[in-house]
Amino acid sequence: MRKTKIAVLVSGGGTNLQALIDAQGSTLVSGEIALVVSNNAGAYALERAKKAGIETAVVLKKELGSQEAFEAKLKEILTEHGIEVIILAGFMTILTESFTACYPKRILNVHPSLIPSFCGAGFYGLRVHQAALDYGVKVTGATVHFVNEIPDGGEIIAQKAVEVLPGDTPEVLQRRVMEQAEWILLPQAAETVCAQLNKQTN
Ligand code: GAR
Repeated sequence: MRKTKIAVLVSGGGTNLQALIDAQGSTLVSGEIALVVSNNAGAYALERAKKAGIETAVVLKKELGSQEAFEAKLKEILTEHGIEVIILAGFMTILTESFTACYPKRILNVHPSLIPSFCGAGFYGLRVHQAALDYGVKVTGATVHFVNEIPDGGEIIAQKAVEVLPGDTPEVLQRRVMEQAEWILLPQAAETVCAQLNKQTN
């Protein structure tokens, strides 16, 4: 069976990358992770990729000098590897339109809230959960969406709600949202998108 070639872009711990790796062969059958790219050389996600035998690359904006050069390098690496679908899994840098426009409906992102709440520029990682707690919402969740030029503004693919409980800290809430939503939704959404692309290609 044809498998869509996926690149996962990461910056940190990589638990969502791990969920994708673990889903290969079960939930995720229409695509395979061919490459993991990080914008942070120290990201633990890179270790997870290496343990799973997946090729890795590091692209540093600081070394390249500009956003333009960073995105050009990223594109070059993705093209070299024949990447068809890009998954942002805790990738903590915003990509501009000159990058996103090259991959319409081919970039997915997982965001740790129910978009349109607590999203957009400045809302990432624990900050999202802190904002949800500060607001006092009783339900939060995760969203997987296509990426376009608007931060967290692309078409929604899947969402799942998660309860906020009394006494939650950002860390406790983050973990619950990951366990109950992100790690389930992301592999499922990746499968849906890859299966659809394979159908179009056949
Ligand atoms: C995840 O909660 C992900 O949804 C979030 O960062 C965390 C990364 O964890 N992403 C964003 O906030 C993007 N706006 P991980 O490295 O363990 O997958």
